[in-house]
Amino acid sequence: MPLRKLVAGNWKMHGVSSDLAEIAQIASASREYPQVDVALCVPAILIERAVRAVPGFSIGGQDVHHAEKGAHTGCTSARMLVDAGAVLTIVGHSERRDAQRESNAEIQAKAHAALQSGLNVILCIGESLSVRERGDAVETVLSQLEASIPDEPSEAAELAIAYEPIWAIGSGKTPTIDEIAEMHDAIRNRLNQRYGGEGDRVRILYGGSVKPSNAGEIFAVADVDGALVGGASLKAEDFMPIVAAASRAG
Ligand code: 13P
Repeated sequence: MPLRKLVAGNWKMHGVSSDLAEIAQIASASREYPQVDVALCVPAILIERAVRAVPGFSIGGQDVHHAEKGAHTGCTSARMLVDAGAVLTIVGHSERRDAQRESNAEIQAKAHAALQSGLNVILCIGESLSVRERGDAVETVLSQLEASIPDEPSEAAELAIAYEPIWAIGSGKTPTIDEIAEMHDAIRNRLNQRYGGEGDRVRILYGGSVKPSNAGEIFAVADVDGALVGGASLKAEDFMPIVAAASRAG
């Protein structure tokens, strides 16, 4: 049975008070697509205001610290995200893996901490262009997956994996449909090896230059259970056609 599609926007370092109206527009338009789960992951400092602006709509964070509390200047704990009204968080985005040198082990700890606090988690994995060109994309992504997903299969239903090839992010380039299908199938098999039957409950999102023009064909691929959208999630006029395509794909 196909999983409910999840279309999540990653606003990255975009969004101030004057953008709350855009969030409200997306939340209100999303009500027309009850078959799709829609969420926006906004800057931590905007979460509480976004939640107040759109009660009942899913607002998330973009990162979380693995510790409960302590001397971690500038970091945000899972409890703080929950306290602000977030219901999910991204972990392991390639921009953080690169710029903040986050390891798989750290990302696994973050995912575990977030799930323990009742947050849903979108955990990102994906290969660089050189790895793709060398022909090692599947192997590399599966080893990232193995090392960064939480151990507990009971957490599977609250976990989503986002396959985001680094070279496709913000570039306008995407893998071929066959390459997406190959990767999502490999991820599904590995999840099932790790979690037994529970692996089928983990949603596998595709991310990287998802747009209204390519969303339909991407959502038609087996084991693509949604999308993590960057640039095209900032405006309702770009984001809602992607949500509509997910709804049509069922
Ligand atoms: P773009 O959709 O802008 O390529 O970004 C993808 C991404 O990084 C989402 O997390």
